Amino acid sequence: MSYIQYETEGAVGILTIDRPKALNALNSEVLADLDAAIDAVDTNVIRALIITGSGEKSFVAGADIGEMSALTKAEGEAFGKKGNDVFRKIEAFPIPVIAAINGFALGGGCELSMSCDIRICSENAVFGQPETGLGITPGFGGTQRLARIVGVGMAKEMIYGAKNIKADEAYRIGLVNHVYPAEELMAQAKKLAATIAANAPIAVRHAKEAIDKGLQVDIDKAIVIEEKLFGDCFETADQKEGMGAFLEKRKEKNFINQ
Ligand code: CAA
Repeated sequence: MSYIQYETEGAVGILTIDRPKALNALNSEVLADLDAAIDAVDTNVIRALIITGSGEKSFVAGADIGEMSALTKAEGEAFGKKGNDVFRKIEAFPIPVIAAINGFALGGGCELSMSCDIRICSENAVFGQPETGLGITPGFGGTQRLARIVGVGMAKEMIYGAKNIKADEAYRIGLVNHVYPAEELMAQAKKLAATIAANAPIAVRHAKEAIDKGLQVDIDKAIVIEEKLFGDCFETADQKEGMGAFLEKRKEKNFINQ
């Protein structure tokens, strides 16, 4: 039995972390299942992926504290690498990934959401990196991605203080793009995913690559990355289709991912 449920609706994939008894906490098995589930997504068909948590209370309440409690230094480092490898795979996934945060997003849960391209949440969501209160640092990318998303000062305050924040504060500091009533969250996530999936898939992938790779280098190198990916689009059938539809004043577009 897998700790990950996967379903598809048209060109949208929905991946649910399913360990509700432990508020979807990430132990080694959940991480392995998540890794395998990501590998199994057919990116020839799926154009946007949603990640959420099962139940009404929690997205992911962190890495599994029981499992971590007995780790040695070497095992701790290896556990960090296990999480980091999966989250980096999500971050570098060729298609956009949306985190639909349906409750607690603490520690590894906040870190999982930050490896996604876009975060939206329900009104009952709670975010935080409580690790220093447990005697550890964030270990699945939190020290790096939180500072990049909300700025160094805010990230340091949250991490040093092990300070959790509610959905409205997460929205205010830019950690999430939108906050919805819980019962609307998945519909809104699917709507956003469908909007993305309706656009030319290669252009969307190239835009993701340009943004993510460009942020790692200086602006002169970054615009060259953009120029190359922009140029590559002109070899695609979907560029002809998109521009053809505009010039012909045609609303319907048939993007074929080629
Ligand atoms: N690891 C293991 N089990 C967890 C868990 C976690 N991170 N979070 C929740 N659970 C388990 C609880 O132990 C409990 O199990 P039992 O019923 O068997 O006792 C079950 O989930 C339900 O949890 P609670 O009874 O505590 O539920 P609550 O509503 O009272 O509280 C909560 C919810 C505030 C999220 C609380 O569970 C909590 O504080 N959890 C831990 C959050 C946390 O510190 N996360 C960071 C982990 S460290 C990390 O993630 C490191 C890293 O960067 C890689």
